[in-house]
Amino acid sequence: MNDPRLLYLSQTDVVATDVGMPEILEALETAFREHGEGRAEMPPKPGIHPGGGDNFIHAMPAYIPALESAGVKWVSGFPGNQHLGLPYINGLLVLNDPATGMPLAVMDCVWITGARTGAATALSAKYLARAESSVVGVLGCGVQARTNLEGLQAVFTLGTVKAYDIHASLSEAYSLEMATRFGIEAVAVSSPEEAVRGCDIVVTAGPILKTPHATIQAGWLDKGAFASLVDFDSYWHPEAIAEVDKFCTDDTPQLRFYQKEGYFQQIPPVHADLGELVTGRKPGRESPEERTMTANLGMALDDMAVAPLIYKKARQEGIGVRLPL
Ligand SMILES: NC(=O)c1ccc[n+]([C@@H]2O[C@H](COP(=O)([O-])OP(=O)(O)OC[C@H]3O[C@@H](n4cnc5c(N)ncnc54)[C@H](O)[C@@H]3O)[C@@H](O)[C@H]2O)c1
Repeated sequence: MNDPRLLYLSQTDVVATDVGMPEILEALETAFREHGEGRAEMPPKPGIHPGGGDNFIHAMPAYIPALESAGVKWVSGFPGNQHLGLPYINGLLVLNDPATGMPLAVMDCVWITGARTGAATALSAKYLARAESSVVGVLGCGVQARTNLEGLQAVFTLGTVKAYDIHASLSEAYSLEMATRFGIEAVAVSSPEEAVRGCDIVVTAGPILKTPHATIQAGWLDKGAFASLVDFDSYWHPEAIAEVDKFCTDDTPQLRFYQKEGYFQQIPPVHADLGELVTGRKPGRESPEERTMTANLGMALDDMAVAPLIYKKARQEGIGVRLPL
């Protein structure tokens, strides 16, 4: 019999389900294949901007029939939160039963947002980075820096991470944590340039800004390297972006949407989005010398690929609180 109660999963509950990165990567790859084949539904995300500036709260709905997943994420990003001792990203996700539309679960979305964004970088890197990539540069040592490295280490044999943050104490803490967690060499560096030069993979994960600070200059990204712009084009000078041979994204229509919103004003033509890479409609890396780059915007598709994994595991293990509708 159907149970007319929903499952509430706090942030601690979501973490307790302990869904692993390999499982998340597999679900994401399926979701992007379905999207690339036109078998998923995902309208562009509408948003509101309390307080103006770079604050946002976005509604992110998606339906992925192959994963029997339907729902919406309601997620905020407030850059000023760091000064208040609050996380930058916060929010909730509602998972619905695709057969009846009934709400199945309400869950915290912070962990999912971190994990799926790291997985999206890793999935892009699978198609765009050199298979033997081992040195990673990370700029902005917060939540994303951690999940992106976790995603990458699930796909590549990593040897070294070079970490930069505007707060040196944060890059040092990050390096210690990553060295212990993944058994790799981790070095806190004192300039953005040191975190980019000599790397096979570069991840920028500082704040998203409508007016890019454009710190990374042309000539810093090595030949043959891959870059993931988790913080959009905020960190990269247009001339540095123009140097890449293949500029990709996770979803071209959403990139066009963001361009209308004022982001990505100076980018090269899009080579492929992630659906096109995963389905083989467009080639990924074709030579070891190519510089490749993706600006993954983060999509409802990612979240709705992961949410059923959390829900199923929570149901199996009795995690969370059942609430009346
Ligand atoms: N594309 C996506 O799918 C997606 C998803 C989630 C978050 N994000 C973005 O990722 C970025 C990071 O998110 P988070 O949750 O890790 O935030 P966070 O607050 O946990 O970490 C951000 C870190 O960047 C540092 N920082 C700020 N300015 C910097 C600079 N100029 N150089 C180096 N470091 C700098 C901060 O000190 C902080 O440690 C945000 O811009 C967020 O909007 C993108």
